[in-house]
Amino acid sequence: MADLTSTFCGITSPNPFWLASAPPTDKEYNVRRAFEAGWGGVVWKTLGEEGPPVVNVNGPRYGAIHGADRRLLGLNNIELITDRPLEVNLEEMTRVKKDFPDRALIASVMVPCDAESWKSIIPRIAETGCDGFELNFGCPHGMAERGMGAAVGQVPEYIEMVTRWCKEATGLPVIVKLTPNITNIILPAEAALRGGADAVSLINTINSITSVNLDSFAPEPMIDGKGTHGGYCGPAVKPIALNMVAEIARNPATANLPISGIGGVTTWRDAAEFLALGASNVQVCTAAMTYGFKIVEEMISGLSQYMDEKGFTSVAEISGRAVPNVTDWQYLNLNHVTKAVINQDDCINCGRCYAACEDTSHQAISMSPDRVFTVMDDECVACNLCVNVCPVEGCITMKTLDKGEVDERTGKPVGDYANWTTHPNNVAAISAE
Ligand SMILES: Cc1cc2nc3c(=O)[nH]c(=O)nc-3n(C[C@H](O)[C@H](O)[C@H](O)COP(=O)(O)O)c2cc1C
Ligand code: SF4
Ligand code: SF4
Repeated sequence: MADLTSTFCGITSPNPFWLASAPPTDKEYNVRRAFEAGWGGVVWKTLGEEGPPVVNVNGPRYGAIHGADRRLLGLNNIELITDRPLEVNLEEMTRVKKDFPDRALIASVMVPCDAESWKSIIPRIAETGCDGFELNFGCPHGMAERGMGAAVGQVPEYIEMVTRWCKEATGLPVIVKLTPNITNIILPAEAALRGGADAVSLINTINSITSVNLDSFAPEPMIDGKGTHGGYCGPAVKPIALNMVAEIARNPATANLPISGIGGVTTWRDAAEFLALGASNVQVCTAAMTYGFKIVEEMISGLSQYMDEKGFTSVAEISGRAVPNVTDWQYLNLNHVTKAVINQDDCINCGRCYAACEDTSHQAISMSPDRVFTVMDDECVACNLCVNVCPVEGCITMKTLDKGEVDERTGKPVGDYANWTTHPNNVAAISAE
């Protein structure tokens, strides 16, 4: 079995699977059982300042998007940071860290945006024996209205300033958790780096309204007839998170900044994808809330089996492996030609591919009177819409034409690599160099 030991900005854990700051990490009872189940680390539910704890709503705090099979695809929440007293959390963290010294225990923090608040709480939390801090600049609801969370994370100058305060207050690693509710993730990531961050973690939740009650005419979850936007997470947000992780990993200024990948991780494969795009470890919330702590067993066995099959001896060998293959559109090979192929043995003759291609693509699938569906190579532009709408996995595949082979649609032989920067239709004729 492959060694899954992971080192993230100097913090070692037996595997790269951490629980993200959220209800699964809200208390000792949860975290103990999470560690017993095998999680490599946890980011404790965000701690706030001393004083009366925050107050949560007393009605539903979640909205959801389900697939046709009722599988949870996206979760929306209007929960705030921990609503338990700071002292209680600190005592529990101290006990847990003492009993599980080999696991990573990170303290997530969010206090008002002034130097005194941050500089006084950080050393106090450090006394728990925690391994590092995660600054919550991401919470998009409730706390943002009080000038915290995403209200800080959306202003790069504030990120830099608060990160610097924290670095001045501790020698432990400081991870900056980024909000996806911005237009360009590079700006907050670079600001975190300037402030001295040891790493970034992303994504926090996405501003969202999951549904509207059409009898009460209010967004769900509804509290006494009113709703508000919440934070969206779960499998549905993974593509957004992967892109943001890759953006940071391939940006020269942030390329060496360790990344903790978060957003929709449900299986070992999701985790491996985050690693490949530049993350050094992953954090999980919705999947644990949906299936319980034991899902980490599948993650551990799946990743280690994959590593054994590929001959990888460390998690670090996967990290960033796909980054060189993420490019800008203009560098894609315009001479790479493929064609859809329908496997007639697998086809159930549903006609979905025909409807999709006929009505919204390139009229490249023919339907015979007895419902045999065939791709016409002289019309197929290889968009792969049919592959994606076909209900039978693997029934339609894309075949790559060899160099020199004639593309029946254009009548031209397949040529060498050439991209948009040198294409004759490109009036801008940008140099490929
Ligand atoms: C109910 C709920 C509460 C959350 N609370 C926090 C929090 O206190 N601090 C924080 O940094 N992130 C919080 N998050 C965000 C998660 O840590 C994580 O960034 C997000 O859910 C994306 O991961 P996922 O798709 O695995 O759920 C919360 C998420 C949920 C669903
Ligand atoms: S790949 Fe696109 S163009 Fe080709 S058959 Fe499928 S849907 Fe039609
Ligand atoms: S969508 Fe798939 S199963 Fe349905 S007709 Fe097309 S190839 Fe056959």
